[in-house]
Amino acid sequence: MKHHPLDAGKAGTFTIGQDLVVSRLGYGAMRITGSGVWGPPISHADAIETLRALPGMGINFVDTADSYGPDVSEALIKEALHPYPDALVIATKGGLTRHGPNIWRPVGRPEYLIQQVHKSLRNLGVERIDLWQLHRIDPHVPADEQFDAIKGLIEGGLIRYAGLSEVSVADIKQASKYFSVATVQNRYNLVDRTSEAVLDYCSAQNIGFIPWHPLAAGNLAKRGSVLDGVARRHNASPGQIALAWLLKRSRCMLPIPGTSKRRHLEQNVAAAEIVLTEDDYQTLTAA
Ligand SMILES: NC(=O)c1ccc[n+]([C@@H]2O[C@H](COP(=O)([O-])OP(=O)(O)OC[C@H]3O[C@@H](n4cnc5c(N)ncnc54)[C@H](OP(=O)(O)O)[C@@H]3O)[C@@H](O)[C@H]2O)c1
Repeated sequence: MKHHPLDAGKAGTFTIGQDLVVSRLGYGAMRITGSGVWGPPISHADAIETLRALPGMGINFVDTADSYGPDVSEALIKEALHPYPDALVIATKGGLTRHGPNIWRPVGRPEYLIQQVHKSLRNLGVERIDLWQLHRIDPHVPADEQFDAIKGLIEGGLIRYAGLSEVSVADIKQASKYFSVATVQNRYNLVDRTSEAVLDYCSAQNIGFIPWHPLAAGNLAKRGSVLDGVARRHNASPGQIALAWLLKRSRCMLPIPGTSKRRHLEQNVAAAEIVLTEDDYQTLTAA
């Protein structure tokens, strides 16, 4: 497998909503924060270097959230990439609050969601957020109130498109009464396919499906699994094969592998040019 030139566009493109064309292989910006997704990263320089490398590798879809740090990830994206290239789509999220490392609690009250969108606009330095995702539906607030707040944010021009995260098909249908659901971000990878039905629904409805944990938090990048044989045949790493499998699974699939290191970013982007055979694909799917 060749490794240069690196181009995420080799994975093909997907159009979010009516007009946001993105390379299907994106980047998740949760890992440029401190331990437990809390505070600043161990190396500010590495985080900035990784972010600045994205446009040159054809990545124009970056996923972040107000809660990553909190605020740290959005601020680093602005520091590294603002003024943004025209083609860059930054997707952020709101609806989870932070009280310490690895602690995440949903708050879906409309006034809070609206506040967080205003904060994300400021932190990212944009006048409108391309894609804003409800990080979690707050079980303590009527879902309709949360969806109605999102509808208001779209109508008010603060966000262009809206998506959901960790939802069921029924949730998507309910939200669709308020706004057109542009994307769904659920955990999904080779070893966790709990969201298979949601993925199939998204594929049928042309909703972008953003699988978080595409490398199972790095475990699929390690050797010693069913991935090894296929990886050897392609002269690739197991993590690259895990990403190539996702890309082949659905044309609506938008993986956002997360890394704090340029070296890992390069490896992940190289997955965009791997073409799995039908045999490889079936072997991995059945594994
Ligand atoms: N919606 C949600 O609820 C939700 C939840 C979690 C995550 N997300 C989003 O999804 C994105 C991806 O999820 P994730 O970051 O949790 O999991 P992931 O992408 O499956 O794995 C990231 C981990 O793998 C390591 N890694 C990445 N590339 C590697 C490579 N080539 N070789 C070896 N190790 C590698 C990273 O460490 P290094 O930094 O050392 O490379 C990091 O620890 C996040 O960045 C975030 O944007 C969303």
